[in-house]
Amino acid sequence: MKILYVGAEALPFASTGGLGDVMGSLPAALASSDESLDVRAVMPLYSKIAPMYRDKMTKIAEFTVRLGWRQQYCGVWRLVKDNVIWYFVDNEYYFKRDGLYGYYDDGERYAYFCMAVLEMMSHIGFYPDVLHANDWHTALSVIYLRRKYRYDAIRAVYTIHNIEYQGVYGKEILGDVFGLGDEDFPIVDFNGCINLTKGAIVCCDKLTTVSQKYSEEIRTPYFAHGLHSIISDYGYKTCGIVNGIDYDYYNPKNDPVLPAPGYSANYRTFAGKAQNKEALQKLFSLPANPDVPVISMISRLAPHKGLDIVKSALEDFIYHTDVQFIVLGTGEYEYENYFRYLADKYPQKVVACIQFDKVLAKQVYAGSDIFLMPSKSEPCGLSQMIASRYGAVPVVRETGGLYDTIKAYNPVTGEGNGVTFFSYDPGELLIALGRTLELYYDKVQWKKLVRNAMNSDFTWGASAAKYLELYKNLG
Ligand code: GLC
Repeated sequence: MKILYVGAEALPFASTGGLGDVMGSLPAALASSDESLDVRAVMPLYSKIAPMYRDKMTKIAEFTVRLGWRQQYCGVWRLVKDNVIWYFVDNEYYFKRDGLYGYYDDGERYAYFCMAVLEMMSHIGFYPDVLHANDWHTALSVIYLRRKYRYDAIRAVYTIHNIEYQGVYGKEILGDVFGLGDEDFPIVDFNGCINLTKGAIVCCDKLTTVSQKYSEEIRTPYFAHGLHSIISDYGYKTCGIVNGIDYDYYNPKNDPVLPAPGYSANYRTFAGKAQNKEALQKLFSLPANPDVPVISMISRLAPHKGLDIVKSALEDFIYHTDVQFIVLGTGEYEYENYFRYLADKYPQKVVACIQFDKVLAKQVYAGSDIFLMPSKSEPCGLSQMIASRYGAVPVVRETGGLYDTIKAYNPVTGEGNGVTFFSYDPGELLIALGRTLELYYDKVQWKKLVRNAMNSDFTWGASAAKYLELYKNLG
């Protein structure tokens, strides 16, 4: 079976968030699960991609892509990594920019990318059995497949990683920018506008989301950002498959970026965790006290990450308890400033690291006792899994992938791998944090809980198998 993943970002080439992690690890996990699979993936050739990868690429095709009235150059570069053939779509006008997204012409840039993906197939002589597109940037690849190219033998899977970003545009650019005709408008039409996500939902054979819970949640207005009726209408072809994480890249046993030696849930090596905690406290000039719990948040500072309840509850908590709190991430100015304010007011307790740094992130995971992720909505979430792997106990709200991956610890049975709360409410958050501290000070219970967290299975194995099953059943 031949599978082509289509995505706007992928690790280690270029990434801004969770989508990049998944694009960077799922294709390889699938390829290694069954040698008979031919797994390939395609993304834009951003100028951000490091020379160490560019140097390994070879150009395998050049052609012109027609988009509306435009005729644009397209080069296709190839690189093999972990049994996956990667293709990179090269056009400097669209992709030689400082960042990945956020440009005024993103609609046109990704329409070009999608058209290039379809056009590429005949030039490189590769027609997949399954085209698997991810998020709105790639929605048009599914729409073009059905409406323009009519490659009926190719099945299309479309995955929503976050329904908040849908690709919404005015009707007037239907032909001009997207190269679609009036007859295609009903496919993408949502409330009189072009909605690319809606179009992909209509055109795909299977719609997936990145957790089971989220696939149910987005049938309701609270979570769907307007698309609940569409998701419900197409519920018959929708399912949720939870993401995994790359266990080699995230491995506390031998992670080269950790300041102290590696550690695992095994009692013989577990002392390494305490050393990483001490190193982290020193790094941030916090009192290096092993008994004070270190709580961290590593997150995009966006509202759906639960920052408004954090803002209402955190200062009270910090003021009244003996804890250390570290936040790492960038985002909305309001939240960045809030954490700067807290750090300024409580220099012995709070650290605000307003940056995006993957190496530092691992050191924070490894040095923390508790990891806070109180998201308002969370399609899957990867940080709670990474935190668990590094022995930081996740405190999460029961939503989306957080609900599917983290189960409340029960001190009586000794089961559960985190602390959870349901209502999106600052009071509930405070109660959950209070419960976590009680567990933390009970050494026996805490040891069990940390071990459960570290032993949770967040590998890709089971999920890759589910995707394969889904591909096989596409007919
Ligand atoms: C998006 C979602 C996140 C998910 C990731 C990968 O970033 O917000 O919850 O884990 O995609 O699917």
